[in-house]
Amino acid sequence: MNASPGISIRRATPDDAAGVAAVLNGVIAGGRHSLLDTPFTVAEERAYIEALPERSFIHVTEAAGRIIAFQTVDPWSTFTTRELDHVATMGTYVDAGHRRRGVGAALAAASFAAALDLGYEKIFTDLRADNLDSLGYHLALGFTIVGAARRHARVAGRDIDVIFIERFLKG
Ligand SMILES: CC(C)(COP(=O)(O)OP(=O)(O)OC[C@H]1O[C@@H](n2cnc3c(N)ncnc32)[C@H](O)[C@@H]1OP(=O)(O)O)[C@@H](O)C(=O)NCCC(=O)NCCS
Repeated sequence: MNASPGISIRRATPDDAAGVAAVLNGVIAGGRHSLLDTPFTVAEERAYIEALPERSFIHVTEAAGRIIAFQTVDPWSTFTTRELDHVATMGTYVDAGHRRRGVGAALAAASFAAALDLGYEKIFTDLRADNLDSLGYHLALGFTIVGAARRHARVAGRDIDVIFIERFLKG
């Protein structure tokens, strides 16, 4: 898949573990955006990619042979039988030096198409209420706010409110 000149998007493989972990750990270390507060080792990331179930995928964005961003798509719920099979959740991580250049938007275009192919009809995801970058990004993609949950995540020992958002894939 070609996003824009010099940038390509493809499915992640276990050999992408180091690149994915580097982007993810950079966001975690920033301490402002993620609901995660604990970095991942390359071995943990590799094991995670190797174990991805059938309806989960990670798209990576490469520039000059280096992973600069990735996006995860997973079933929203794995504890029901079929009732929520049409709902996916999504996470997006762009390296700090490559933001506001359309990388996240290109990832979403690729992931929405792939999610439709897997039978998903909507994306339902969450973000820190204090993450205005993520809110701006998701609103620009057509997400709408479902609601907010107070003191929903405990990140590095601090309680964080979380906003839930959704976007239908079929209009
Ligand atoms: C949120 C994030 C994924 C956006 O990725 P990106 O590659 O910078 O986004 P794009 O350049 O494709 O932006 C597409 C549109 O989204 C909106 N947008 C993106 N970043 C925004 C920001 N910081 N503030 C307001 N709007 C923003 C804009 O409308 C933008 O279009 P424009 O640049 O033409 O105005 C990126 O900032 C990031 O990885 N942040 C840290 C991790 C994170 O917060 N992930 C989300 C967790 S829920």
